[in-house]
Amino acid sequence: MLITKAITVSALALILVVMAEAKSDVTSVPFGKMPDGTPVEIYTLNDGQVEARIMTYGGIVVSLKVPDRQGKAADIVLGFDNLEGYVAHNKGKGPAYIGAIVGRYANRIAHASFTLDGTKYEVPKNDGDNSLHSGTHAFNNVVWQGKPIADGVELTYVSKDGENGFPGNLTTVVRYTLAKGALRIEYSATTDKNTVLNLTNHSYFNLAGQGSGEILGHQLMLHASRLTPVDATLIPTGELKPVAGTPFDFSKLTAIGARIDANDEQLRLGHGYDHNWVLDNQGKLAEAAEVYEPKSGRALRVLTDQPGIQIYTGNFLDGSIKGKGGVAYQRRTAVCLETQHFPDSPNHPSFPSTELKPGEKFHSVTVFSFSAR
Ligand code: GLA
Repeated sequence: MLITKAITVSALALILVVMAEAKSDVTSVPFGKMPDGTPVEIYTLNDGQVEARIMTYGGIVVSLKVPDRQGKAADIVLGFDNLEGYVAHNKGKGPAYIGAIVGRYANRIAHASFTLDGTKYEVPKNDGDNSLHSGTHAFNNVVWQGKPIADGVELTYVSKDGENGFPGNLTTVVRYTLAKGALRIEYSATTDKNTVLNLTNHSYFNLAGQGSGEILGHQLMLHASRLTPVDATLIPTGELKPVAGTPFDFSKLTAIGARIDANDEQLRLGHGYDHNWVLDNQGKLAEAAEVYEPKSGRALRVLTDQPGIQIYTGNFLDGSIKGKGGVAYQRRTAVCLETQHFPDSPNHPSFPSTELKPGEKFHSVTVFSFSAR
């Protein structure tokens, strides 16, 4: 009896300690079923300022509610109202990877092939002759295993040896946590064979509120003095080109729309910004980007330890996607800030390596931190 009481008291003390340390409420509910019957859950993280909803399908950030300078919250990411919307979108020919974890290899791989340890690997060809985001049935389009953790959710996906053509059984763990207005994404992965890996989150941000029009008035600042210029198929040429004096120079907060249609070959090739900047962070977790939306006052700071960031200004959105509330997502109505390794690294020995070997642990952190001013 006494022992039971002692246990109860210490259990209660433990709960109180956990509650005192926790910075977010975390709850989960079912979010429907996949066509094959696999259940999907959605986790809601709320730290009293920001509310993030993340589902186990694709590790997708379904909504992100952030206050403006008056304290009025709006959902600032593109998406769909329900699971069916996401599933139907991914069945289409060219999905937009909305809100999802992208892998095994985010961004492009030229000619959808690479050679590792003398063996040639072929991966899905879904962007002309190239592979984009590892194909359409990749990390964005599978159900991850979810479990609640302090301030967030941990998602695990085991990708089988040979899945989408990549070598090695790869276990990927993504932890989303929310505290003090910042959504932190911690990626880790291990393999049992030499492989390549590049992970990112593909959220489409519109800080004025999703569905509220073009993002050309959003201001962008990047801690990046160079860019990996691309060819006509958006594959890096291999060069690291200084951005100073070009429309790619975002060393000071500058409206995204100020130079997006300038007479510049790289802008023509990308139909706007769809490029990887080389970050100045030297592999340490540091501020990579800031986006500021003057009307609402919302600001997003992106911190990462990754060597690159793909800024994609939604140039391929054309109104054909009907998103939340039936809104047609038009061209340039969102911006993606995809922290990552450089595109096509497996075919560019001079780029930072994306190889992962058995016994090693891939580990990386990206933070999306919100405020208003
Ligand atoms: C990335 C690419 C873009 C586009 C989107 C998905 O950001 O760089 O070209 O394909 O993904 O639509």
